[in-house]
Amino acid sequence: MTVHIGAKPDQIAETVLMPGDPYRAKWAAETFLQDPVLVNEVRGMLGFTGTWRGNRVTIQGSGMGMPSLSIYANELIRDYGAKTLIRIGSCGAMQERVKIRDIIIAMTASSMSTPSRGIFRELQFAPCADWSLLNAAVQATKARGTPTHVGGIYSADVFYDERPDLNEQMTRHGILGVEMEAAELYILAARYGVRALAVLTVSDHLLTHEALPSEDREKSFGDMVEIALEAAFS
Ligand code: HPA
Repeated sequence: MTVHIGAKPDQIAETVLMPGDPYRAKWAAETFLQDPVLVNEVRGMLGFTGTWRGNRVTIQGSGMGMPSLSIYANELIRDYGAKTLIRIGSCGAMQERVKIRDIIIAMTASSMSTPSRGIFRELQFAPCADWSLLNAAVQATKARGTPTHVGGIYSADVFYDERPDLNEQMTRHGILGVEMEAAELYILAARYGVRALAVLTVSDHLLTHEALPSEDREKSFGDMVEIALEAAFS
């Protein structure tokens, strides 16, 4: 047990999928894993461990935003020995060519700040995905024919953004989409020598203001879970 995770030491797998929403962790575990067992419910941040094609996997909610993700990722890596962490979540598109339901695989994650800002001080560290996971996820999306974009994303500190000028600069510089967790996950993976990736479903569009209809969310989310699982075990 750690401060925020109630699982016993051997109840967390080396491969962990991390959706922001704990109920998505429950849905994904019950839909895609064999014999899922609830291993954490501290603060309602549900985590489940089961198997996928014979491989042990944990699906643990991260909560929203980098400070929350940082707590869970730190404890998973440092206390439970997680070696592969894949964020699965939604994002807002920042390019016209990126459409609702498309998948974004985040090669890099820019930010204004992260919980690790205090370490880096004047250094503008460039958080990047693990290449082997990224490559495997791209192959998985190709095999399925899912429309996919690979490139930089933006990990924001706020959902209710007050800097339209900054969003314009990011669109101008090719940033594909915005979410709120990946940059810190990539930084922690670099710090502890483990693998990380973020596979995201486009749920809304900052330029066209479209949004994924709620009845489509489950199917789009399911594609992303399977891509993450295939990437983890390829
Ligand atoms: N901003 C931040 N995070 C998000 C968004 C957004 O527009 N959409 C999905 N996650």
